[in-house]
Amino acid sequence: AEITLKGAMATDHPGATISRHIYGQFSEHLGASIYDGIWVGPESDIPNVRGIRKDVVAALKDIKVPVVRWPGGCFADEYHWRDGIGPRDQRPVRKNNWWGGGLESNAFGTHEFFDFAQMIGSDAYISVNVASSTPTEMREWIEYLTSDDADTIANQRRANGREEPFKVDFIGIGNESWGCGGTMTPEYYANELRRFSAFFHKNGFGFHDNNDNNALRVASGANNLDTQWTKVVMTNAAMAMDAISLHFYTLFEGDWPKRNEAKATGFSLDQWHEILFQANRMEEVLQAHIEVMDQQDPEKRIGLYVDEWGTWYDVEEGTEPGFLYQQNTLRDALVAATTLNIFHRHTDRVRMANIAQTVNVLQAMLLTDGEKMAKTPTYYVFKMYVPFQDANFIPVDIKVPMIKHKGKRYPAVSVTAATGKDGRIHVGIANLSLDQNYTLELDLGNVLTVTEGTILTHAALDAHNIPGEQEQIMPHVFDAASVVGEHLKASVPSKSVVVLTLQ
Ligand code: AHR
Repeated sequence: AEITLKGAMATDHPGATISRHIYGQFSEHLGASIYDGIWVGPESDIPNVRGIRKDVVAALKDIKVPVVRWPGGCFADEYHWRDGIGPRDQRPVRKNNWWGGGLESNAFGTHEFFDFAQMIGSDAYISVNVASSTPTEMREWIEYLTSDDADTIANQRRANGREEPFKVDFIGIGNESWGCGGTMTPEYYANELRRFSAFFHKNGFGFHDNNDNNALRVASGANNLDTQWTKVVMTNAAMAMDAISLHFYTLFEGDWPKRNEAKATGFSLDQWHEILFQANRMEEVLQAHIEVMDQQDPEKRIGLYVDEWGTWYDVEEGTEPGFLYQQNTLRDALVAATTLNIFHRHTDRVRMANIAQTVNVLQAMLLTDGEKMAKTPTYYVFKMYVPFQDANFIPVDIKVPMIKHKGKRYPAVSVTAATGKDGRIHVGIANLSLDQNYTLELDLGNVLTVTEGTILTHAALDAHNIPGEQEQIMPHVFDAASVVGEHLKASVPSKSVVVLTLQ
């Protein structure tokens, strides 16, 4: 039998703006993320514009990608930007030591990345090499990108075909500096951050009026619940950052995959529950870091950027373990909606998030196979949630039941609401239950009508899409919602994501 959940939405009291940047992406030089996934080269038979796949660009434009973080990840702390400029046939070939040890052609470099970002209409977030480089290399990259003067480096950019400076919106100073980014202590990293930040010359820091470096500086942040990292880096180097990052992956039992325990498809019911439980832990992880940040920065000047998140499973059978290629199912769609709803609740501090990763890696939006491409269930959640970008958060007061499985508990239903830039009210609902349909009855305090409804669901828990095959799972029109008086009534089926628009 259907269960009714009653609650209220404070439609008259909208909260902070949900930054569109929490719908950000992360694209690293890893596996088939860049090469094949985004870049095929101008000579390829796969339809492309200046080497960049047309199908991928069209799909990403549809989800209005607000920002892309590049070139890594672990890769960033071994990357030298000069390898990726100038004539492509003269660029050095390097080893990609973090990811599979294969060859990195450097065909996709600075100009190609900015071309891609511009094609999809996204802001640029570049991650600079701290651990195996110097502030000088960073300084020169920034100058190459942003200088409008007649300095030699800017002229080099012009000689490479770009007259106008590029716009750098965000700069990541190191990545996972506690791990692949140099195995530093937080004290050591905080000093490195101060040093690199000084030579970044933010907004002309120094005695000149250079205003070309207005990018927001993102400090390399903690993993999971390591609040000590956040505390030390903020205590010692708050002045050197505009945001600090946080990485939190949805891992089976919170640990990196052991074969056959963390399957992307064909998983057991235990694995289904475990992943949804872990995804919900994002709430406690954010709360823990926000508490520390609130002590150090009560005015909330510094943003918390979850610049890597998503599910991390065993790689697909027969694929290179270092390429992190995994399928993506209805379960991932539920992880995505639940996580985005959690971000919305912390929007005053969480001002960016970047799902790992855009194409062919971890919880991807898109999977490619030669000239074929599939949109994943996660992609469709991002598409359904576009109206939440830069919308005004509306608090929802609702008590939801908990799912209990083998001693672990997580909420069965997650609800979010916001007033969109279009003035309409958007409601996102994730029902994580395997078999329980819920009717939501929400007091709106206003008479409105439901103008649109979309649902993503499937009978199969691991429904997924395969490049070149008929789509198995995609959004459909949802019409089981209406407003009676001032009450929204929506009948939300088990294991589904629903987005409603009210006017
Ligand atoms: O997204 C894959 C990797 O996960 C990134 O390179 C690294 O930052 C993290 O450990």
